[in-house]
Amino acid sequence: MIQSLLTIDNLHTQFTVGNQTVKAVDGISFDIQKNQTVGIVGESGSGKSVTALSIMGLLPHNGQITQGQILYKGQNLADLNQKQYRQIRGKEIGLIFQNPMAALNPVFTIGNQMIETIRLHTKQTKSQAKDTAIQLLTSVGIPDPDTRLTQYPHEFSMGMCQRVMIALTLAMSPELLIADEPTASLDVTIQAQILNLLANLKKDRGMSMLIISHDLGVMAQHCDHILVMYLGKIVESGTPNDIFKHPKHPYTHALISSIPSTDPDQKHAPILLKGDIPSPLHIPSGCRFHTRCPKAQAKCSQVEPQLQTEGSRAFACFYPY
Ligand SMILES: Nc1ncnc2c1ncn2[C@@H]1O[C@H](COP(=O)(O)OP(=O)(O)OP(=O)(O)O)[C@@H](O)[C@H]1O
Ligand SMILES: [Mg+2]
Repeated sequence: MIQSLLTIDNLHTQFTVGNQTVKAVDGISFDIQKNQTVGIVGESGSGKSVTALSIMGLLPHNGQITQGQILYKGQNLADLNQKQYRQIRGKEIGLIFQNPMAALNPVFTIGNQMIETIRLHTKQTKSQAKDTAIQLLTSVGIPDPDTRLTQYPHEFSMGMCQRVMIALTLAMSPELLIADEPTASLDVTIQAQILNLLANLKKDRGMSMLIISHDLGVMAQHCDHILVMYLGKIVESGTPNDIFKHPKHPYTHALISSIPSTDPDQKHAPILLKGDIPSPLHIPSGCRFHTRCPKAQAKCSQVEPQLQTEGSRAFACFYPY
C-alpha cells in the first residue's frame, strides 16, 4: 500500500467573528503522495489559503480546526501545539507566500538572513553556512551570489526576492512545499520563470507540492492532480485532463470557460456566473453552487450532492456535463 505523505480527512476550519461563525473550510478531504504536485483552484474566498494555513498551523487567533485530521506521515498535525509545530514547519513542510518582501527583514542583508536560517536548522559553521547560501542562491538562478549576499532586500527586484524566499525555504530541505499564489505579485514572464524553477527543484529534490493559484493555465501545466474549491468545499477533483478537457461540474465548466483560448477554432464564449460568490456566513442550502448555476433544478436547492468518484476524478453534482 502506498502511504500518502499528507492526508487531509474531512477538515473543517472556522472563524469566529463577533457572535458569528465563518465556515471557511467545510469538510474537505484529499491526499498528496510523495513527488506529487496537487493544485487548488477556485474563486476568491473559496478557502484555498485557509486550507494552507490549517496545514501549516498558522491560523489567526479567531480561526480553529473544528473537525477532521491532517495526517502528515501518519501524524495528526491538528493535535500539535505551537512548539511541536515548529519541528514540522520549515523542516518538513515549507511555505512560500505571495509577498516575498513581507517575509524578508529589511534591516538585515540577504546573507545575514540566509546564514542565520541555515544555522538554525543545520549544525553548520558560519563559513559552511555561507557556502550553502551561495549554493542555494545559485540553484534558484541568482547571478553573482557572493555580492548578492551582502545586499539588502530593497536592492532586489520582486522576482529576485521571491527566488531568495524559495532559497531560504529550500535551506531547510522540506519534503512538502506549499506555495500560496507564489507568483501573484510578479509580472507574467517572471511568473513563468518562478514556476519552472519550482517544477525543476521539485524534480531534483523529490519534493511534493501543494500549489494555490488563480492562473489555471499554470495549474494545467504543473499539477498532477487538481482540486476545485467552492465556498469551502471541493466540488470537483481530477487530473488536468479531467478538469480542463472534460469538466463535469458546472462550476468547473464556468471557471475553464473563462480561460482565453489562443486557438481560433476553439473560441468559446465564457460562461458568466450570476453574481458573486455568496458569503460563507450564509451558505446556500442544498448544493452551495445552486444560486449561480446555469443547470440548477429544484432538487439542487434542497439536497446537498456528495462527491462521487469516476475513475481518476470525483465531482459533486446531480446534473453534470
Ligand atoms: N481571519 C479571518 N477571520 C474571518 N474570516 C476569515 C479570516 N480569514 C479568512 N476568512 C474567510 O474565510 C474564507 C476563505 O478565505 P481564504 O483566504 O481561504 O480564501 P482564498 O480562496 O484563499 O481566496 P483568495 O483567492 O482571495 O486568496 C473567506 O470568506 C474569508 O473571508
Ligand atoms: Mg488566498
